[in-house]
Amino acid sequence: MAQVKMVGVVGAGQMGAGIAQLVAAANLQVLMSDVDSVALARGMRTIASSLARFVKKGTLAQEEADATLARVKTTTSLLEMGNVDVVIEAVSENESLKRSIFAELDRLLKPSSILASNTSSISITRLAASTNRPQRVIGMHFMNPPPLMQLVEIVRGPATADEVFGTIKNLAERLGKTVTCSRDFPGFIVNRILMPMINEAFYALMEGIGSPQDIDVGMKLGTNQPMGPLTLADFIGLDTCLSIMNVLHKGLGDSKYRPCPLLIQYVDAGWHGRKSGRGVYSYN
Ligand code: CAA
Repeated sequence: MAQVKMVGVVGAGQMGAGIAQLVAAANLQVLMSDVDSVALARGMRTIASSLARFVKKGTLAQEEADATLARVKTTTSLLEMGNVDVVIEAVSENESLKRSIFAELDRLLKPSSILASNTSSISITRLAASTNRPQRVIGMHFMNPPPLMQLVEIVRGPATADEVFGTIKNLAERLGKTVTCSRDFPGFIVNRILMPMINEAFYALMEGIGSPQDIDVGMKLGTNQPMGPLTLADFIGLDTCLSIMNVLHKGLGDSKYRPCPLLIQYVDAGWHGRKSGRGVYSYN
């Protein structure tokens, strides 16, 4: 099993920044890239504010927070990724974008590097097929928010080597996470089960069975979840929820996975949840 010393993270959004923070907190060097320098600066602010919350809570010393932040370097060019041992790709859930990034990284990285994707539902098999190293491609699915959530779901494609699985499992554990393993099927395990619940909550809302509050409080207190399903959907992003439902519907071909028309309508309206200021609820 290879010793990981330097990790690249592609994409500086909520997930990419959270992953970069975890890697840096585990005493590893991180190179975080994004095509957009404004997004990179925002990503660094996300990391700084998350670390500040731990300092305020008393679970992290200020010097540790400063050292963690200093271990994160940024770049707008993938060309600088050549020497990293593992790249974790965390760009938006767009298969053609991910495939082109994987193909480019495959050309740039040293042969021993591992290409991991944080995708929440896109086929690892197809991402691997866009490279000449399918045996070194794997899914490393973090939950949102990465600094707080305990799980990393590792997804093996049919070609993923045992040694690569071992290295990534070891890395996830070094980040303090518990690992589960899923075969490469639409939605993997977590979203295969979570998203139909969220989609059903939209059907319940659309059919007027209850108000958003009734649905959320009912599920939160009735089934002991930290957030009700509609609040969680706003937190994840309604556009992301819809794209995962589309992957489940298309990939599994069963009408029970059809996205709720109300979810589609909200996304069409630009109501993408917390990040856009409006989803099922308003955040202004
Ligand atoms: N970094 C550091 N600390 C953070 C933080 C962050 N990013 N976000 C929140 N916190 C801290 C807060 O400062 C707060 O600390 P104190 O207890 O000291 O006050 C604590 O965490 C709790 O935060 P909040 O009071 O803001 O809110 P909360 O109690 O509701 O907890 C939560 C927030 C951890 C997100 C919790 O609501 C939760 O677990 N929600 C469910 C999240 C979930 O299910 N995520 C998975 C989504 S599915 C997924 O990600 C897969 C996919 O592919 C779509």
